[in-house]
Amino acid sequence: MIKLDLKDAKLNEDLSLWQEKVSKAHRDLHEKTGVGNDFVGWVKWPLDYDKSEFERILQLKKRMEGKYDTVLVCGIGGSYLGARAAIEMIKGLYPDDGIEVIFVGNTFSHTYISQVLEHIRNKEVVLNVISKSGTTTETSVSFRIFKHFMEEKYGAEAKDRIYATTDKARGTLKELADKEGYEQFVIPDDIGGRYSVFTAVGLLPLALANVDIEALMKGSADAYRELNTDSLEENPAYRYAVARRILDKQGYTAEYFVTYHLQLTMIAEWWKQLFGESEGKDGKGILPTSACFTTDLHSLGQFIQEGKKTEFETILYIDEMEKDLVFPEDRDDLDHMNYLAGKKLSWVSQMAFEGTLSAHSEDGGNPNIVIHLKDNSAYSFGYMIYFFFLACGMTCYLLDINPFNQPGVEVYKKKMFKLLGKPE
Ligand code: PA5
Repeated sequence: MIKLDLKDAKLNEDLSLWQEKVSKAHRDLHEKTGVGNDFVGWVKWPLDYDKSEFERILQLKKRMEGKYDTVLVCGIGGSYLGARAAIEMIKGLYPDDGIEVIFVGNTFSHTYISQVLEHIRNKEVVLNVISKSGTTTETSVSFRIFKHFMEEKYGAEAKDRIYATTDKARGTLKELADKEGYEQFVIPDDIGGRYSVFTAVGLLPLALANVDIEALMKGSADAYRELNTDSLEENPAYRYAVARRILDKQGYTAEYFVTYHLQLTMIAEWWKQLFGESEGKDGKGILPTSACFTTDLHSLGQFIQEGKKTEFETILYIDEMEKDLVFPEDRDDLDHMNYLAGKKLSWVSQMAFEGTLSAHSEDGGNPNIVIHLKDNSAYSFGYMIYFFFLACGMTCYLLDINPFNQPGVEVYKKKMFKLLGKPE
């Protein structure tokens, strides 16, 4: 399902030298003996997930079928990025099934929130608020505004259109949902936000958005089984994890996550959060950044080719993206493009990928890691996400970092709360 190509990675160390460390970290992840071990519930979740809650999600989707055309998803960070990345990767940017999914709760932008309110005025809306802590300010601000919108629009029926995904027992959102009588879904204690897309955090919005969540979970379970080996030779997630560490030691301070389709830019955003929040602490880590080619070859391309050599590239290349078209012949050929007539656009894109890889790697001297994924199906999404979870846990353990906390995020909150006059 995933093929990792390290032939252009320019590693100056043999991967096998890391086998012992990898085996220890593998045990720590699977046997819960490493740092942050309260938060490794995601490791076996693809097999252990709550089947009755899963069924409840499918039932809710069935019950609401035909009653909504707009899904508002209110959450931030790990409470929204995975679902958004999945919807865009699997359904594209302009799906034709009549369901629009709008993400709120991820910004204080008054302009954005006002525009969403205007945009949905005449739509049939359901609202899923998602917060593990139940107290995240961006989410709470938006939720109050959209809750009022729902109550004004639907009156008593609003409570049947609002669903809360939060802690099973604690938190302000939990209390509010109990009082209002919203249907609730649980974020397990031992799964942190950015590792939660296979829980109701991702599954409920995805089901409402017509994504095949059964195929998605099957992809994650197959990834669990196939990647449950400490052997570096057999485990591409661990080879990727080690390659990052070697490049880090070689002095590369940034990693570009590169995609070749505009509908994959949110995958890059999700990946940035996963690696950024997991690894960037104790003065360590590789800066996760991203680019979408060939679009960004017309902005960042110059820097990547000839600028300061501090970054490497990790390319997510999807071998069989759905929907293709043949470039048309033109009788007059006024644009001089007939040399491509009859070629598939997927072939043009592949040539761009191969040419760019050669330019950046051979001419530019940049290390390039290529991750080949079969296609953009729900199954492949599930498989790929688990691959990155595992790679991230491993690469952080190899750096002696706790991948499952984010203490630095609190600093801006404290300063902001003081300025907002939030009661202690
Ligand atoms: O990965 C994480 O833990 C964070 O990015 C959280 O998902 C994010 O801060 C939102 O938190 P919450 O779900 O508690 O509102």
